[in-house]
Amino acid sequence: MAGEKQVETTGALGWIDHRFPLTSTIKAHLSEYYAPKNFNFWYFFGSLAMLVLVLQIVTGIFLVMHYKPDAAYAFDSVEYIMREVPGGWFMRYMHSTGASMFFVVVYLHMTRALIYGSYRKPRELVWIFGVGIFLTLMAEAFLGYLLPWGQMSFWGAQVIVNLFAAIPFIGPELAIWIRGDYVVSDATLNRFFALHVIAIPLVLLGLVGAHIVALHEVGSNNPDGIDIKDKKDMYGRPLDGIPFHPYYTVHDIMGAAGFFIVFMAIVFFAPEMGGYFLEFNNFIPADPLKTPPHIAPVWYFTPFYSMLRAVTDQFTWVMAAGAGIAAVVMFFKTKGFWKIAVPVILLLIAVTMRTVDAKFWGVVVMGGAVVLLFFLPWLDHSPVRSIRYRPGWHKTLYGIFFVNFVILGYLGTKAPTDVFNLMSQIGTVIYLGFFFLMPIWSRLGEFKPVPDRVVFHAH
Ligand code: HEM
Repeated sequence: MAGEKQVETTGALGWIDHRFPLTSTIKAHLSEYYAPKNFNFWYFFGSLAMLVLVLQIVTGIFLVMHYKPDAAYAFDSVEYIMREVPGGWFMRYMHSTGASMFFVVVYLHMTRALIYGSYRKPRELVWIFGVGIFLTLMAEAFLGYLLPWGQMSFWGAQVIVNLFAAIPFIGPELAIWIRGDYVVSDATLNRFFALHVIAIPLVLLGLVGAHIVALHEVGSNNPDGIDIKDKKDMYGRPLDGIPFHPYYTVHDIMGAAGFFIVFMAIVFFAPEMGGYFLEFNNFIPADPLKTPPHIAPVWYFTPFYSMLRAVTDQFTWVMAAGAGIAAVVMFFKTKGFWKIAVPVILLLIAVTMRTVDAKFWGVVVMGGAVVLLFFLPWLDHSPVRSIRYRPGWHKTLYGIFFVNFVILGYLGTKAPTDVFNLMSQIGTVIYLGFFFLMPIWSRLGEFKPVPDRVVFHAH
């Protein structure tokens, strides 16, 4: 066995190492895993995401000890946890704050991957597992939000499950199948509970494991986007690499300390975060007979929710025109069989955009906005990875993309008006345009020369 050859341990550790690859695993993933020496602030968020994942699982286990997944008792059991169970309020606020902080951390982690081109070859699978994690995390958060059985839990689930009903032919049956009833009910609460506490966390853990294994297979990227494996010393160690342990374990402990200061400040002083982390309407028990005047999802879903609402009947004209232009471009850009097939498919889609209900296309745009991320490694054709060596106007484009995403998020929290709707539509075009046009714009402009070795200034 390859692992057995390297093991020189004796005593109790030696006994374990001859039966289980403990020392060799620690070496491979920590003390002899060489990470680039120029990691910066952005590299805190991977380990922080792992920390929040553990926090959510541990606090979740304590909550399940007192929570009752029954429509008649769920709301009261949460109130019981908050008022009667010793330390219950602490567990509950850590779990609810943890949900929002998970998305803060993951959005920053994804931003890092975007700006340093960490999704590019050979890290495509690291990225694909990452997008899978993001989707799973969204499902986990959505399912969990029904459990307190407040007004927003109930009506939020009602709105989202009803979206599935917009799918042609199978939609209405599918929505009933998901709910287990004609309306959101006790049956829905029970299955959402089962999925939230066991099924989805298992998927999440599996995906995170695959994410890390894939990353350690190819090695980490860094702010310069340079492959440190290309330059090695006489022992085969990357010249610009340092052992993950102890250097980055200490570095990440500092990140965790900073995180806990912010996290605990929120838990102790602002757990509702002005209605953004815990919506005020969710302190009212679910009432199937009383629809709240304004139903909005929690902040981390709102950029995508804005895109859903942006797709009105008139907006499908814009989408049909976009598909038409894409058909013409693909006709000139592709060869052989694809020259005809791709434009024909795009034109058919353009026609369906005007014939099928806009609500369905809203769902497609919302889902597509996430699914599009899977294809990012193949959309970016830039000759360099990192934003540091891209033309200045690329940085402006990224800036516009991020600001636009935040504005979309803000608009999604607001009740729709004509102006807000128009802004959401422009925002949706910017978001989709950024990705669809990336194969063209990412190779344009004057790129700066990429240095041979990473840029590192000792602190
Ligand atoms: C539970 C959620 C997640 C956990 C626990 C997690 C964990 C990690 C860890 C520990 C690293 C290595 C340290 C670092 O580079 O910061 C990493 C790297 C990476 N992650 Fe994640 N991740 C998560 C979600 C995501 C998501 C949603 C994406 C993208 C959609 C993503 C994309 C990446 C990429 C591209 C890298 C390589 C970065 C580089 O080498 O520059 N991750 N992740």
